[in-house]
Amino acid sequence: MKKNDEKTSIVFLQNGPIQVSGSIQISGQYGEKKTEETIHLCRCGESKNKPYCDGSHKTSGFKG
Ligand code: FES
Repeated sequence: MKKNDEKTSIVFLQNGPIQVSGSIQISGQYGEKKTEETIHLCRCGESKNKPYCDGSHKTSGFKG
């Protein structure tokens, strides 16, 4: 259970991934993961390691 003093933040990085920090649970077609780390989720669609960013946005010309 999440404590009241724990915060989760979501930041859309310019022309790059979504940075998520805090207590996170990911589930879906790419499996499940629980973490307390900062992760970067792909939003350009070019990553070879979805749902995570692998840096492909830098060469794909993604703008967002
Ligand atoms: S946002 Fe980085 S690979 Fe898609």
